[in-house]
Amino acid sequence: MRLIVVVGARPNFIKVGPLMPALLSAGIDAKLAHTGQHYDAAMSDVFFTDLEIPKPEWFLGVGSGTHAVQTGTAMMKLEELFAAERPDAVMVVGDVNSTLAAALAAAKLNIPVVHLEAGLRSRDMSMPEEVNRLVTDQLSAMLLTPVREADSNLLAEGVDSSRIHLVGNIMAESVLRNLPRIEGRDVCGRYGLKPREYVLVTIHRPENTDHPERLSEIVSSLLASPLPVLFPVHPRTRPLLAEHGMAEDAPGVVLVEPVGYLDMLALQRDAAAIVTDSGGVQEESCMVGTPCVTVRRNTERYITVEVGANRLVSAQSAAIKPALADALASDRTWQVPERWDTEVAARVVKALQSGVAPLMGC
Ligand code: UD1
Ligand code: UDP
Repeated sequence: MRLIVVVGARPNFIKVGPLMPALLSAGIDAKLAHTGQHYDAAMSDVFFTDLEIPKPEWFLGVGSGTHAVQTGTAMMKLEELFAAERPDAVMVVGDVNSTLAAALAAAKLNIPVVHLEAGLRSRDMSMPEEVNRLVTDQLSAMLLTPVREADSNLLAEGVDSSRIHLVGNIMAESVLRNLPRIEGRDVCGRYGLKPREYVLVTIHRPENTDHPERLSEIVSSLLASPLPVLFPVHPRTRPLLAEHGMAEDAPGVVLVEPVGYLDMLALQRDAAAIVTDSGGVQEESCMVGTPCVTVRRNTERYITVEVGANRLVSAQSAAIKPALADALASDRTWQVPERWDTEVAARVVKALQSGVAPLMGC
């Protein structure tokens, strides 16, 4: 089978980390296409090095832009690539603009689309990712889901059950495979911090960064944190933080550039608690046993709240502060969800080997 696997943004790279070796060792001719949605070394190259991901066969240099410009540019470049290569299937992962662009370009060329991390829903259509998820799933011939709830979401939207495969969470497999590699890795020490004595923060979703009132509430809750805050800052968030009172020299706050995957895993493992709006970090914190506070209106990763690892709160200081106190007091005794294990990539291979039936009309 000839498969083109499309990646473009930080969370995509992590998802293909455990996947590529499994595909290749099963004899699947899988090649990576990198759209270039994320391009800084700290947002892209570092993950290929950390996770030993094969060098992409194609780099499309799409870069940043409005949603239409970014998605449209990626579609044009991917269409040319898919038309020239005519793979048996195109695999897309996650919910970023590159995911949507690849699904649209492949579907219009009648190339079957396989979606890894299908079926997650926040039910918030103001989130660009929710639009991407809905469209991608409708265009996908094979839907590989991370949790049972995702299967139910897809069935409710009319997806035929024969197309759905509950493979489990590939982010969880990545965590489990990489934890042994970071034993003894003291990343917080580089920033003058000690394990279990800091709060790790990532905030980058437009619903928080692009609403000044929400970002100031988040900043004021972090400035009041009972423990020092370590915040690797996403490039979209960086210019906005200072405007909201979180400067480089704010007391009790360490602002750093985005860190690599292995460093991030060590920082999550060693944190007393995590405050985030990231999808991947909600899952990883659940896996490494660190209590999480998610600052969002909703989450498509509700399973992490259900098991007791995560707390979902609105972007208000009065909500974040008690949730952080609750997280810091957590006994960390939750069970990780079903199929968040080291067999996810193997289940993906098995699903692919069962055959990808193209979508047909009447
Ligand atoms: C994208 C995804 C989001 C995901 C996030 C992961 C979409 C719609 N959003 O959001 O789901 O959670 O990636 O990190 O696809 N920039 C740089 N250097 C880079 C990349 C981006 O400076 O290497 C800056 C640019 O100013 C750019 C901005 O970040 O305009 C936003 O980048 P973009 O890829 O459009 O969206 P993200 O916010 O990163
Ligand atoms: N991550 C990282 N370094 C950072 C911030 C995040 O390696 O400085 C990793 C994080 O551990 C997770 C992934 O990036 O594996 C999540 O990506 P992000 O939060 O950008 O996107 P989302 O998951 O919200 O789509």
